[in-house]
Amino acid sequence: MAGEPHTDAEELVLAFLAEAGDAFVAGEAIADKLGLTGAEVFHHVDALRAQGYRIEAIPARGYRLAEIPDRLTALEIRPLLNTHDLGQAIHAADAVGSTNDRAKALAEEGAAHGEVVVAEAQTAGRGRRGRAWSSPPGRNVYLSVVLRPDLPPGRAPELTLVAAVAVCDALRQAGVDAGIKWPNDLLAGGRKIAGILTELGSDADRVSWVVVGVGVNVNARAEDFPEELRGAATSVLLERGGPAPRALFTAALLTSLERWLDLHAEEGFEPIRDAWRERSVTLGRDVRVRGDGRELVGRAEDIDAMGALLVRTADGLERVLVGDVEQVRGAS
Ligand code: BTN
Repeated sequence: MAGEPHTDAEELVLAFLAEAGDAFVAGEAIADKLGLTGAEVFHHVDALRAQGYRIEAIPARGYRLAEIPDRLTALEIRPLLNTHDLGQAIHAADAVGSTNDRAKALAEEGAAHGEVVVAEAQTAGRGRRGRAWSSPPGRNVYLSVVLRPDLPPGRAPELTLVAAVAVCDALRQAGVDAGIKWPNDLLAGGRKIAGILTELGSDADRVSWVVVGVGVNVNARAEDFPEELRGAATSVLLERGGPAPRALFTAALLTSLERWLDLHAEEGFEPIRDAWRERSVTLGRDVRVRGDGRELVGRAEDIDAMGALLVRTADGLERVLVGDVEQVRGAS
């Protein structure tokens, strides 16, 4: 389903056009930059068109990348990436059990920081707290990234919040008014649009690997969700009223994730906590939290330096490390 592989020069032409976004780029500019002749540029553009890319050409203005094929393979994603590590190696599959399981196996076999597993469908997609993640083929993004952070195991949960901020930004960039529900659900219009499942391999002192798994409902229509989720789930398509190219979304997501990971590595959790707070749809609300074998009702006040939720209840301030949050009215 990937079609013919691109040549390196084709990939460079594609990357150049992708970088220009919606703008036209003069054929000579591409030729000069890549050391090609105008005829060679034309030839590569033609080859890309044959693989499903729609590239407009207007004399005196140049070329414009109008549409990319909706496939999730390394060939589609790599030229659109703006990263140093994330996605430099992409393992793409038509279907896997769970991209997280595949990424964990790769991590155990020595995969490098930033290797990505992406699939068109999952047959056993997993959510938080033992739940299933609905993963119909060809519509959404299911991806897992292997990270090798220099962190003690106790700080690994911070990476889930890093990822939540990054996914939120990628959704906003795609035109969706998304926010984060504690700990790491992405909501749009009160419905779930994306989720994150982080898993960890470590010894007593050091993290060996972290797998950050992200599921985003991109082009799912209402009928693609299991009936019991229809009222509670949404997608980029449903929110924007039109489909989004998944490769472009994936590249934007990996680029955003790397930017926030770099900030976390350089400056620690504080700027992430601030960014999370700014994007939160939980803080300041009256909530019911279930999990950890207890149920609390109160006002979600803040998250602490470990990412735990601080809830002001009638009995005082409670700290919640694991749980599901539901908004309530008239509580606290
Ligand atoms: C949640 O909100 O419960 C977390 C959902 C995480 C789903 C993603 S899809 C890609 C990766 N592979 C999985 O099996 N799960 C995560």
